[in-house]
Amino acid sequence: MTQDSEWEPRLLGLLCKWCSYAGADLAGTGRKKYPANIRIIKVPCSGRIDPLLIVKALRLGFDGVLVSGCHPGDCHYQTGNYRARRRLAITRKFLEGMGVDPRRLRATWVSASESGKFVEVVSDLVKDLKEIGPNELFGGKKQPDAEKAKTGS
Ligand code: FES
Repeated sequence: MTQDSEWEPRLLGLLCKWCSYAGADLAGTGRKKYPANIRIIKVPCSGRIDPLLIVKALRLGFDGVLVSGCHPGDCHYQTGNYRARRRLAITRKFLEGMGVDPRRLRATWVSASESGKFVEVVSDLVKDLKEIGPNELFGGKKQPDAEKAKTGS
């Protein structure tokens, strides 16, 4: 799908504080450039992400959600990312059933030292979202409100 050139996708990043958040932070301190389309929420572990938070983000108007945690085998809580991987597979199927393009949800593993990979992941997802187009299923014309997503109101 082609969009007018002014449209920019809005992306929510749910990043594990031990690895991916630190990788994003390193990208920032290293002055690496990546699209400013992402709003980040730091989570204790990818295994703690409730799939309903992902659905809620899309309902609030985000065009895509990035979940990023420690590499398999490196989770600080041992199995959190394995749990996340299973939940995300189910969430993707659920979204598909709701008519949402499952590519709007991306999961990846980025360590604290992989700032370059973080930049790549965000850039690729933004590029793909531009291809997919705006999230309109849940009235995606609304502006995403990260505060609402956090407070649950
Ligand atoms: Fe990072 Fe579990 S602590 S994914």
